[in-house]
Amino acid sequence: MKAHPQSGFSSKIGAILATAGSAVGLGNVWRFPTETGANGGAAFLLIYVFFMIFLATPIMIAEFTIGRHGQKDVFHSFAVMSRNHRLWKYMGFLPVVAGILVLSYYAVVAGWTFEYAYTAGINGFAGKSASQYAQDFSLFISHPLRPLMWMFFILALTFVIVALGVQKGIERGAKVMMPVLFLFLVILAVCSLSLPGASSGIDFLFHPDFSKVTGSTVLSAMGQSFFTLSVGICCLCTYACYFRKDINLVSNGFSVAVIDTMVAVMSGIIIFPAVYSVPGLSPDAGPSLVFITLPNVFQHVFSGVPVIAYIFSLLFYLLLVMAALTSSISMLEMSASYFHAEKSMSRPVACAGVSIICLFLGALCSLSFGPLKEVQLFHMGFFDLFDFVVAKLFMPIGGFLTCVFLGWVVNGKVMKAELTNNGSLRQPLYPLLRFLIRYFVPVCILLIFIHELGWIG
Ligand code: PHE
Repeated sequence: MKAHPQSGFSSKIGAILATAGSAVGLGNVWRFPTETGANGGAAFLLIYVFFMIFLATPIMIAEFTIGRHGQKDVFHSFAVMSRNHRLWKYMGFLPVVAGILVLSYYAVVAGWTFEYAYTAGINGFAGKSASQYAQDFSLFISHPLRPLMWMFFILALTFVIVALGVQKGIERGAKVMMPVLFLFLVILAVCSLSLPGASSGIDFLFHPDFSKVTGSTVLSAMGQSFFTLSVGICCLCTYACYFRKDINLVSNGFSVAVIDTMVAVMSGIIIFPAVYSVPGLSPDAGPSLVFITLPNVFQHVFSGVPVIAYIFSLLFYLLLVMAALTSSISMLEMSASYFHAEKSMSRPVACAGVSIICLFLGALCSLSFGPLKEVQLFHMGFFDLFDFVVAKLFMPIGGFLTCVFLGWVVNGKVMKAELTNNGSLRQPLYPLLRFLIRYFVPVCILLIFIHELGWIG
């Protein structure tokens, strides 16, 4: 059976690229180096890879199963699969709400990447002192209008692509942007590896020092694995509704996880050697690593050849822009698909409605770095609050509920039928995946959550 003949992804490669496009984003090129830098490098990387394999990827496969089984939208999937358990139906609202929240604050940072790509394009980084980069960044993010303008721009671009539809917008966008993104990654990594201090950077990334590992390293690694694979808030469940019935969900899931990890590691290979090649700079600069440390690094290390400094900066920020865009597309689709499929709104109207809400909420997040700095809820500004709610609450709770739902509520035959494509595929990993989804993932998330609340450990 081939449902959605005109509205699903047209090919297997299109489905993989679009899903990888959602996963690969600022989480890889911005958040991953930041977290790795702050948590001691290679030891963090190892724990992160463990969570990717045993936690985040099984959740992704669970989301694929639920989405593809329903074939329409996430709300429909939960409604038909929950049978008599009416409360589960409400899980269908998770992506609607989470999509709006995550896009609202993601668009702010995505907007910053546009500003930096623009500055790189007009050669605006040249000839500045180290302290000027820091000053420029804080002036920019606290400006009342400029970041809003870029945020509007990225939301408008996202709107146009998603409004064009699954095949003509999302799939085509991923097919164009993802190969370019890989090409840029390879060029930048090769350049970075040829820098004088490269070996210290590589050492930092690949040589584990377990004395740096604490409880919070483990938590950060789990949070990062969820965020980077876009799992827990039914984002990939939304895309899986558009998967054809002949797609192998397990191999698709692992391919996306491998692509995503490769991009994260390559971003580390680009960033850490570059940071170590300038004396006095350290890899644990936090979120400002990409916006303050790196422009400085690029100008410094290539100071003898300004053309290379120019090209390197421009490629790097264009890479960030594309990574951000392929992810923001999936965030808009999460919410808009509900209004389109369940409320019979046309695609452009559904997308426009969601985008306008995000514009308003995103403005609050953006202004929380400037004029609204003093406004705090639960001791956090809007930006931090949205990030907290999505990454620390919705993602783990959503991931937990998704696995409990598929593992315990839905008839076991459904999962087997979806993972083996109705018996036509051999699926040796099925028993392991079923075990992970029923027991391991929910118990792990629960323990980590309890630990976070301070009740154990
Ligand atoms: N995975 C994306 C990234 O790495 C972020 C994302 C989160 C996308 C949630 C969609 C949903 O940047």
